[in-house]
Amino acid sequence: MNDAYLKFVNSPFGGRLARSLGLPKPEVLRRYRADRPEFGGLIAIGAGREPRLLDAFASFIASVGMTSVAHESAGLWVPLATRHGLMTGRFEPAEAGSPGKLAALLFDASGIDDSSLLEPLHGFFHDTLRSLGKCGRIVVLGRPPEACANPRQWTAQRALEGLVRSLGKEARRGITANLVYVEAGSERGIEATLRFFLSPRSAYVSGQVVRIAAQGALAHDAAAFDWRQPLAGRRALVTGAARGIGAAIASVLAAEGAHVIGLDIPSARDALDATIRQLNGSTLAFDIAAPEAAAQIAAALDELGVDIVVHNAGITKDKTIAKMTDAAWQSVIDINLSAQERIDDALLAAGILRDGGRIVAVSSISGIAGNPGQTNYATSKAGVIGRVQSMAPQLRARGITINAVAPGFIETQMTAKMPFALREAGRRMNSMSQGGQPVDVAQTIAWLAHPGSAGVTGQVVRVCGQSLIGA
Ligand SMILES: NC(=O)c1ccc[n+]([C@@H]2O[C@H](COP(=O)([O-])OP(=O)(O)OC[C@H]3O[C@@H](n4cnc5c(N)ncnc54)[C@H](O)[C@@H]3O)[C@@H](O)[C@H]2O)c1
Repeated sequence: MNDAYLKFVNSPFGGRLARSLGLPKPEVLRRYRADRPEFGGLIAIGAGREPRLLDAFASFIASVGMTSVAHESAGLWVPLATRHGLMTGRFEPAEAGSPGKLAALLFDASGIDDSSLLEPLHGFFHDTLRSLGKCGRIVVLGRPPEACANPRQWTAQRALEGLVRSLGKEARRGITANLVYVEAGSERGIEATLRFFLSPRSAYVSGQVVRIAAQGALAHDAAAFDWRQPLAGRRALVTGAARGIGAAIASVLAAEGAHVIGLDIPSARDALDATIRQLNGSTLAFDIAAPEAAAQIAAALDELGVDIVVHNAGITKDKTIAKMTDAAWQSVIDINLSAQERIDDALLAAGILRDGGRIVAVSSISGIAGNPGQTNYATSKAGVIGRVQSMAPQLRARGITINAVAPGFIETQMTAKMPFALREAGRRMNSMSQGGQPVDVAQTIAWLAHPGSAGVTGQVVRVCGQSLIGA
């Protein structure tokens, strides 16, 4: 859908008018394009005491070819970077009033084990934030609080969340800020996650906290893949693939090398065929709510199996609960939640979803925060989160990860149907002051489906531009 306000305020006249009236000026977000370099520019490095992740980070920088500068808090960085053969220098703040030149800021807080030692975070972001350019990236690395040895360390690590979420809200200009908790022993499995959060692929993902577990790092070592086509040789089932977010997911997974099997209801067959034909994928026309659908999908996939399952199909039937019919309640729960359970049960029981596979389910920020008129929808989407949290430990032994994405306001036919005032509120009430695009959800799913994301499981990642709702 067209966001006319975003276009207007980014025109010379509209920009002047918005400034003079004090109106918000959403930035045109820089998104991933295959014909442009994904990484580049300067990244400033900061660190707290005894940073444990700088070595892994230096490997990442070497792999993607960024250039770094060290803030005074990261004294260790220069010798470390030199050892890795990286070009590096000292951070110099941008002159007052000049546009920020840095592409990204990274702070390694993994060694901070007491609240009295949080000060270097202030020093680093105080000095560097103004030097960060439009659509820049902020990543803070820490240790999962719940894995910390004592309450002091847990407290200090948990405190990082408040900092990162506030930075996302303060920075504006299309800048994202995210926190990655890296469990000890999973350092070798961080590259896919860093690539996502430091690239234009995460344009609409901000204020998020992600954990990388150690067990997955072992699986990561076993998986061989090419960073340019990480899903090559993998088969991905995408439900609701005929249009909207599902069509974008199919397209991004195919661009990453997957063979996509797009599924949609029989009445959407023509649109499904048109979407999937361009991707050289295959199609399945089933209503996932039909009682026999799970068995039929399993039978259709049985011969070649599947590596990635994306549960995207979903509907809304909004009414306040007093006015909601039983049928409206039941169909939303069934399509958005119970059908996912039946499909996964069928694919997992028969081993059709292979070991080392990926399940990604589409939830919603309504499932986190609740929404008036959406008791059925929010119940179904909160249930999706429960599924992910409860199944992740069970699937670990098979190396299968399960995660959810929770989109906020995404420009699709679903949101185009909303009343004007509600739609405008949904668009603007987030740190980016705009709605997301289907591709933003799709890129997040591609990261979770990546063979290098073996340590990321049981998580819910919001794709909402750091929406104020449920923040
Ligand atoms: N658009 C948003 O802002 C937003 C926000 C949060 C979550 N979501 C979620 O993202 C997902 C996709 O949303 P969208 O905006 O692209 O919606 P959409 O209505 O444009 O597309 C949904 C697709 O699912 C298919 N589908 C519906 N019922 C089905 C069934 N029984 N069997 C098979 N296919 C079925 C539809 O035919 C359609 O192609 C949904 O799960 C939705 O709840 C969307």
